[in-house]
Amino acid sequence: MPRHVAIIMDGNGRWAQLRGMPRIEGHRRGVDTVRMVCEACTELKIKVLTLYCLSSENWKRPQQEIDFLMELFKQYLIEERDLIMKQDLKLQVIGRKHRLPADVLSEMQTTLQLSANNQGTKLQLAVDYGGRDEIAQAAQAIAQGVQDGRLQIDAIDEQCVSDHLFTAGQPDVDLMIRTGGEMRVSNFLLWQLSYAELWVTETCWPEFSREDFDAALNGFAARDRRFGGIKTSNLGDV
Ligand code: IPE
Ligand code: IPE
Ligand code: MG
Repeated sequence: MPRHVAIIMDGNGRWAQLRGMPRIEGHRRGVDTVRMVCEACTELKIKVLTLYCLSSENWKRPQQEIDFLMELFKQYLIEERDLIMKQDLKLQVIGRKHRLPADVLSEMQTTLQLSANNQGTKLQLAVDYGGRDEIAQAAQAIAQGVQDGRLQIDAIDEQCVSDHLFTAGQPDVDLMIRTGGEMRVSNFLLWQLSYAELWVTETCWPEFSREDFDAALNGFAARDRRFGGIKTSNLGDV
């Protein structure tokens, strides 16, 4: 079982447009899939679930779509609060905060505080998130540490970089799922995906089902993760 599952929830717009609906309807339906995946991760005791909700690049979209996404995000934080608490999910939000509307930030703060001591799956929402931005911010923090004399240059190793990311202390991503069929990472968790197993499905996010999620988990379980080494059973062939 993966410890950290990260999902690029893609294909909302296409799903809706194919059905003659506005793109935002796809985002709306996507919330049901989020609920399903949270429930599954709780049941399977998966430690961290990271969901890509809004990338740093998504601000390029029409203002109407951005406004709808912000409203949806706020609604989600309000309406799912009871369920988040019932499922013992611990909310975490990664990304930049300053571009988000005040009412979204305030609802976010409420759920963050309320769920702070929960022990279940960590539900990590990536909002206004960019992998390169995260690494650049970590570099700044590390440089500051050196300048202040708290950190030696020799001490800047992979662990040190990991410790300065938003995801400090978490296991790296084991399984990265992308719905909607695109074969790219779109600036998602660049550092943490280093050895992740990738699972891309044509299925769009609004119709991604528990069966699809189980298929990804089963696919993961069947992978041979070598991390640069060789299969133990092949050791004799060297
Ligand atoms: C992903 O779905 C959701 C967000 C980026 C917020 P899209 O809106 O990218 O859907 P497609 O890829 O256009 O179908
Ligand atoms: C990635 O999807 C971002 C989210 C799912 C939040 P995009 O739809 O923005 O990715 P690209 O533009 O196709 O790479
Ligand atoms: Mg997309």
